[in-house]
Amino acid sequence: METVILEAGSPEQIRSAVTQAASSLRRGELVALPTETVYGLAACASNPEACAAVFEAKERPGFDPLIVHVSGKEMLETVADIPAETAEAVHRLISEFWPGPLTFVLPKTSAVPDIVTAGLDTVAVRCSNHPVFKAVIKEVGAPLAAPSANRFGSISPTSSSAVMTELSGRIPLIIDSGACSDGMESTIVRVEASGKPKPFIHLLRPGPVTVEMLKKIGKVITGKLLPPGEKPEAPGQLSTHYAPQTSLQLLTKPADFKPVAGRRYAMLSYRGQPKDGYIDLHPWHKVEILSPGSGKLPEAAVRFFFALRKLDECGADTIIAEPVPERGVGLAIQDRLRRAAASH
Ligand code: TXA
Ligand code: MG
Repeated sequence: METVILEAGSPEQIRSAVTQAASSLRRGELVALPTETVYGLAACASNPEACAAVFEAKERPGFDPLIVHVSGKEMLETVADIPAETAEAVHRLISEFWPGPLTFVLPKTSAVPDIVTAGLDTVAVRCSNHPVFKAVIKEVGAPLAAPSANRFGSISPTSSSAVMTELSGRIPLIIDSGACSDGMESTIVRVEASGKPKPFIHLLRPGPVTVEMLKKIGKVITGKLLPPGEKPEAPGQLSTHYAPQTSLQLLTKPADFKPVAGRRYAMLSYRGQPKDGYIDLHPWHKVEILSPGSGKLPEAAVRFFFALRKLDECGADTIIAEPVPERGVGLAIQDRLRRAAASH
């Protein structure tokens, strides 16, 4: 199958790309679409055959459910039954963070085919803020299943060329809107009543909506990553997600780096600052700096998968990653780095 890339830059290009994407989706075809987090591989969520094709293109195991995208609260209610005891908290989170990079795990309605949720009685739902994604879902008028547009276990794509690297020849259409503005997959939460005014917010995957932001609305409970091979309660907790092909070591201090003679090491640096103690440790085969200068975590998040992909393709034997501060979106970056390190 030939994979076509449609550029959606100018207003006319956007209009024509949106029309084409929506009609492909209605016909049951797959389309890779930009979101503010990462590119998603979209299919009509109510079409089990199209959703099966998503699993196939991604080589995703059948036990790992798909995220469903909606256009807002009204469409949310067609796919999820919000329990009365958490409704107020869920609606507060929605009014604060939707449209945006926050995904809820909620009890599903019968409108969601079992293949989407891998047989679970819950569904992960989000509402993207990306203008092109928003226009496509509005035109389709129905929920879209759209996991990240990469092969299973690999790094998420934050550009159309990264989608091409991952899925070329496996899908018919990619809509190219340039780089994703957040660069990190959405925050995933499950809200639970606590018996007190503030609910529990279980953080299933850290992301651009940070713990600091969620804290205002509930008591945030962070889960532990599962070791490889262990069966997850929530599939998003798999520790082997988000891995480059090259092995990756996440350092906690510069002295942890013990090079082996003859091996080529690449460096993923946070700020590229000598005073941090990492950048001058070794004659690196290649260096990528996430946020040059004083270091800003949102900038580091935007560049993260892009930089990781570059290092993965540079011919190094091992990628050495410098830690980033675990606050704000830094928690999500460290989470992806730990999972990448756990995969080898
Ligand atoms: O930002 C994002 O969320 C991107 C964009 C494209 O929307 N999507 C994304 O999808 O990251 P995906 O499939 O790569 O990651 C979603 C995670 C998976 O780890 C999946 O296991 C988990 O959400 N998930 C899906 N449904 C779930 C459910 N019912 N319960 C628990 N985890 C679930
Ligand atoms: Mg993914």
